[in-house]
Amino acid sequence: MRRKLAAGNWKMNGLRAALSELEALAPTLAGEAEVLICPPATLISAACETAPDGLAIGGQDCHPKDSGAHTGDISAEMLKDAGASHVILGHSERRDDHGESDADVRAKCAAAWAAGLTVVLCCGESLTQREAQDTLDIIGGQLAGSVPDGATGHNLVIAYEPIWAIGTGLIPTLDQIGEVHDFIRMRLERRFGAGVGRSVRILYGGSVKPGNAAEIFGVSNVDGALVGGASLTAADFRPIVEAL
Ligand code: G3P
Repeated sequence: MRRKLAAGNWKMNGLRAALSELEALAPTLAGEAEVLICPPATLISAACETAPDGLAIGGQDCHPKDSGAHTGDISAEMLKDAGASHVILGHSERRDDHGESDADVRAKCAAAWAAGLTVVLCCGESLTQREAQDTLDIIGGQLAGSVPDGATGHNLVIAYEPIWAIGTGLIPTLDQIGEVHDFIRMRLERRFGAGVGRSVRILYGGSVKPGNAAEIFGVSNVDGALVGGASLTAADFRPIVEAL
């Protein structure tokens, strides 16, 4: 049985005052779902200190190396040391803004696993790719290229985030979400075996809001959500967690 997961990606948002939103999530933590917030790196330590019991804190990226001359970067071990338990990797904004390839994401994932972090690994197609009916090929390629050997239901979570649905208010149809999630499940089972393949959670991300969360969570193989804008305030994120 896969435990549902509601993950918030604050992206480049949040000053110290935003930490009060974490405390306001406390009432949602008594439920069965796991709740994770990934604030900007500057807030991770403080978030870990102020987070109510049961709220997991994660990073939004890590470097593939343990240490060295990489100005501005953060290693997986540093995230772990700051108190993080998870890290988002391969988000389309990192792939676009920083030219991250599947091979880069794979190396980061291996480093994160070595540090004991659970990876929320993102994949997703552009609108052009969807219109060209290339979605499943793109997702299959990203999974094959970005996920190292050694995945387990504990160290890996996949997030399907269609790029055209991120921050736009657009979402795929429920059938389209189901098709991609079923495909991801099939690929995980084929590569890692049925036991592992069935234990990895698959999140949907892209314009998840309090008003559409419940119907998305009703789709087969949707084990939760990776939420951007609507995770910034507890008022928006709480109903999404409660819809799980
Ligand atoms: O990682 C979460 C994300 O990209 C979705 O963002 O703002 O559309 O929920 P948003």
